[in-house]
Amino acid sequence: MMDKSRTFLSVGRVASFGIVVALAAFATQPVVARTPALIPMPAHLEPSAGTLILQDGAEISYPAMDDGARFSAMHLAELLKRTRGLSLRVVESVGTQDKAAIVFERTADPMTNRNKEAYDLVVGRNAVKISAASSAGLYYGSVTLWQLVTDAAGDKGTVQLECVAIQDAPELPWRGIMLDSARHMQSVTYIKQLIDRISLEKLNVLHWHLTDDQGWRLEIKRYPKLTQVGGFRRLPHVFGSAAKPTGPNYGGFYTQAEVRDLVKYAAQRNVMIVPEIEMPGHASAPLAAYPQFGSTDLHLTAPASEYGIFPYLYNVDDKTFEFLENILTEVMDLFPSPYIHVGGDEAIKDQWKSSATIQAQMKKLGIVNEDALQSYFIKRIDTFITAHHRRTLGWDEILEGGLAPNAAVMSWHGIAGGISAAKQGHDAVLAPVRPLYFNYRQTDSASEAPGRFALNSLQSVYNFDPLPPSLTADERKHILGIQANLWTEYVQTGDRVTWMIFPRAAALAEVAWAPSHPRNWNEFTSRVAVELQRYRKLGIVYDPNAFRVNTQETIETSNTVMVALSNQAGVGSIRYTLDGSPVTRFSMVYRDPFSVQLPARLRAATFMESEVAQSDLDRTLDSASVRVRYSQDLQLCVNDPAIAMQQDPPQGSRPVVLVNYKNPCWIYKGANLNGITQISAGVMALPYVFRDKNKQAPPLGDSKTKAGEVEVHLDSCTGKLLATIPIGPADRHPGVTLLSAPLERSSGVHDLCVKVVRPTVTPLWGIYSIGFTFDEHSSPQKVEP
Ligand code: ACM
Repeated sequence: MMDKSRTFLSVGRVASFGIVVALAAFATQPVVARTPALIPMPAHLEPSAGTLILQDGAEISYPAMDDGARFSAMHLAELLKRTRGLSLRVVESVGTQDKAAIVFERTADPMTNRNKEAYDLVVGRNAVKISAASSAGLYYGSVTLWQLVTDAAGDKGTVQLECVAIQDAPELPWRGIMLDSARHMQSVTYIKQLIDRISLEKLNVLHWHLTDDQGWRLEIKRYPKLTQVGGFRRLPHVFGSAAKPTGPNYGGFYTQAEVRDLVKYAAQRNVMIVPEIEMPGHASAPLAAYPQFGSTDLHLTAPASEYGIFPYLYNVDDKTFEFLENILTEVMDLFPSPYIHVGGDEAIKDQWKSSATIQAQMKKLGIVNEDALQSYFIKRIDTFITAHHRRTLGWDEILEGGLAPNAAVMSWHGIAGGISAAKQGHDAVLAPVRPLYFNYRQTDSASEAPGRFALNSLQSVYNFDPLPPSLTADERKHILGIQANLWTEYVQTGDRVTWMIFPRAAALAEVAWAPSHPRNWNEFTSRVAVELQRYRKLGIVYDPNAFRVNTQETIETSNTVMVALSNQAGVGSIRYTLDGSPVTRFSMVYRDPFSVQLPARLRAATFMESEVAQSDLDRTLDSASVRVRYSQDLQLCVNDPAIAMQQDPPQGSRPVVLVNYKNPCWIYKGANLNGITQISAGVMALPYVFRDKNKQAPPLGDSKTKAGEVEVHLDSCTGKLLATIPIGPADRHPGVTLLSAPLERSSGVHDLCVKVVRPTVTPLWGIYSIGFTFDEHSSPQKVEP
């Protein structure tokens, strides 16, 4: 597993770049030029002999009166200053006399057979030239140059660039990220930062999910209540009735001026913002504001406080279409995007089924069922959008009952919807839940952020194939590209959005840019290691867990423990120390599990070549710590539908608890019970934030006290009851409370079932940690598992 990753590459696609370069001085000794660590890897890259020195004060020139080129030149200078401390001067070109070290050049010729994002970049011995027909191409050339510089040798104020010729263009025109600003809003400043950061990986679409049951985030001048009423919800309070949320009013919206500013900011970085206005479902918020456009008299008076699937659907009468068309008119005025996303997902049809008026209308129109009615609905909207020279885009449910003539499909239930659309001659974007939902966890590390339980790892994203073999070459042309979706039910802050998107965005970008290239995980991760350094320079607080060293500790005797080290990515080499000293590239290399005398301080890091990819395991091992497990180290009794859920109070974040909301029950695998006298549980109250579409109440269990108890059972959840920990002392406490109780004496190694029984739906108690008190004198014997 720990094979050394190679910087001097001789594998996969890199072999075709012709990286063996004969230097004149060493003609008999071919020199292996280093392939630069770029992400995404360009289509064609030819390293050559020689270097160019870039120094403080050197010039970047752009053609006179060329705003697009000027933007890229300024952006490059700013990035180099910020991330490399290099001060370059941006100047308008003086034509053939140009002595600039970096020259932006606009080619009139659109470079035959190459697409509008194409660019050429040549690092020669005297200068760098970036040429492209489009502003997008010039921007991407500047991004590649920035990546070359941040991967190059040099001191402060000097960079030694190796000569290289790059011809580049993406294979897929749609390389997207979806941001859900409905469940939780991000600031305009944050969204700009996100746009800038994804554009540095040449991602070019920000699909903006602006409306949902929990909030309407876009100012619509004609219908101010959409944001006045639809923009704010009551947060479910941790301690209250789930039915009547009593928390603070929570929400907000983006003004039209802010949106125009964002659209412009994105366009400069070749990012298209595609707005999504959900219909006919996920419409609780707008229907709370304008109930007259709902299907029945049943509606909420404020956006939903909980998550789940709600029954509130738009009506299908002319007045409702007029309302939606008026909204879309303002949307199209704000967003120049050729695509307008109209949602279409998860519209349960109960209200349409129960409305006599709608049923009568269906009969009149000859519509046979509610799926066909949804199809009629989307077709009407598609007609309107098409008349305004835009394209309708919808989730794959818009296939049900027949696709609208001009609609494109965003496939999220796997890729089948995309395949079906392509076979019908419609365009499609592939955004399957697995592996492209970035609200799913990346690793099972105890330090993972809140997200859906199942893992969409960095490697699973890298392995995604956007070119399904079941499509013919012609049908494949309908696959516009791929997109990762970040739903924010449990992603409450900008920092958490960043954590969920990076570094998976690097894998997404790599695959979207050149899906036809062969993949090589070890080679890719060696480039990711360099990308992580760029993230650190940019201040991107990414999820490090794919490269972080994990320990698995097995108790051997009362004072020794067997330690196994690994990283999720399975790459690089792990080095470690046991004396508390910092890990360096000279520290011991981990090969096999080893025994440690307690107490000890274990520090470890993953190295890619000689560089630290991630260095943050620093752990004190003693008889108590080796027995503690945190929430995400425990197993769930029932994995599905498990969610690592958390509802922070808006004023601050809280620890993460992994819980199956329908069954708050965990398994501590392989607990060594010799000498154990007490068990402790860190518990934290969570609001019960789900609305089950079948309105089923979650099972609560048989509790005996007012706040409920944590029960600990031997071997399985129906096994002998070893301990009962009353939750009472933690009641009304917003953070983690450590509770403990005597554990009936046992010996040997056993699984323990730790389950919460409670009298009320909310709060739902989560287990943050489980630990044990160990009687040092009672049982020093060797353990027989
Ligand atoms: C979706 O995840 N409901 C598109």
